[in-house]
Amino acid sequence: MTLDIKEISSQLEKLKQDFQDDISGNKGSNLAEKIRIKYLGRKGQLTSLFALLGKVPAADRPVLGKQLNVLKQLFQQEIDKLAELESEQPQCIDFFDRSLPGVTKETGTFHPLYQVLEEIKGIFVSLGFTIESGPELETDYYNFEALNIPKDHPSRDLQDTFYIDDDLVLRTHTSPVQIRTMEKLKPPIRMIAPGKCYRKDAIDATHFPLFHQVEGLCVDRGITFADLKGVVEAFAHRLFGKNIKIRFRPSFFPFTEPSAEYDFSCVKCAGKGCNICKGSGWLEISGAGMVDPAVFRYVNYDPEEFTGYAFGMGVERIAMLKYQVADIRDFYENDLRFLKQF
Ligand code: DAH
Repeated sequence: MTLDIKEISSQLEKLKQDFQDDISGNKGSNLAEKIRIKYLGRKGQLTSLFALLGKVPAADRPVLGKQLNVLKQLFQQEIDKLAELESEQPQCIDFFDRSLPGVTKETGTFHPLYQVLEEIKGIFVSLGFTIESGPELETDYYNFEALNIPKDHPSRDLQDTFYIDDDLVLRTHTSPVQIRTMEKLKPPIRMIAPGKCYRKDAIDATHFPLFHQVEGLCVDRGITFADLKGVVEAFAHRLFGKNIKIRFRPSFFPFTEPSAEYDFSCVKCAGKGCNICKGSGWLEISGAGMVDPAVFRYVNYDPEEFTGYAFGMGVERIAMLKYQVADIRDFYENDLRFLKQF
C-alpha cells in the first residue's frame, strides 16, 4: 500500500504548528531537551515520519525527503536557540521576563546647605584663608567673655541661649573660633570657621534653633577697613556675580570697633525692590568690623602692633537667597521633593 504525499504534507504542517506552540509555550524548565526528545528523539514525532519515505511512490520520495529534512533543520535550530537562552538564565527562566524595564537606582545629591557651605569655603580658600573649627559645646569664656560680651548682654540671657550648665553653652555663633585660633596661632592670620550654631529662637520662616554661620578673621600688621571691603566685594562677586553691589552700614558688636553690617544689592530684583528684599533693594548678609583691642588683649596680641577685621554671616540666609527658598524650615524637614531639586 502506498501513501498519499499530500496527506503526509498536511501532517507535517500540523507537526510544525504543534512544535511552534510547544517552543513558545515556556512551560517548565529544561524545555529544550524535552522538545528535542518529543520531536527529534529516536521515537520522536518527526523522526518517525522518516519511516514513511519507504511507503510513498518512488517519484514522491525526493520531495518528501526534502520536506522532512527542512523541518528537521528548523526544529533543530529553534531547539538550539532555546537551549542557549536556558543556559544563560539557569534558575529563573520560568519567571524572568526580559522585556521588563530595569530597576533604576536613585542617586543622592548633596544637601543645599552643604553645597553653599562648600562654595563659600572654596571662595575664601582661593583668597588665601585657612579653615578652622571649634567645638559646638562652648564655655562661657569663649562664647561670650573673651569676645568682650558683657554679663548683661541680651545674648547671655537664658531666653536666648541653650545653657548646659552655668559654664557650658551650645555656641550661639562661630565667633568663639576666632579666640581659639588666635590662642593657637600668631599673626598673620587669615581664617574662616564654618559651623553649626544654636539659639533659642521660636521657629518661623526665617528662624530655626539650629543654623550655620561662617566666621571670618584676618589679623596682621596694617590691616584696615579697606581690606575688609575688598574681601567682601571679591566674595560677593564670586558668589552672586559681578553686578552685585555692596553697602556697609554702621552697627554695634561688642567684639568689633568700629562695627558694621553689610548688605548686597538684591539678587532677585537687582536693587529695584521686590518681595525678597521687602522693597528696599538690599539684602542683609553679615555683621563685620575691626577687631576690638579688648579682644586682642584676651589672646595676648598687642593691639598697638596688630589690627584685624572680622565678619560672621548666616549660611541659611545666603542659601535662601541663592536658591530663592522662602522658608528656612525647608532645609531641615528632609522632604525629598524639596531636596531632589538641588
Ligand atoms: N557673631 C555675630 C552674630 O552671631 C556675627 C558677627 C558680627 C561676627 C560681627 C563677627 C563680626 O565676626 O565681626 O550675630
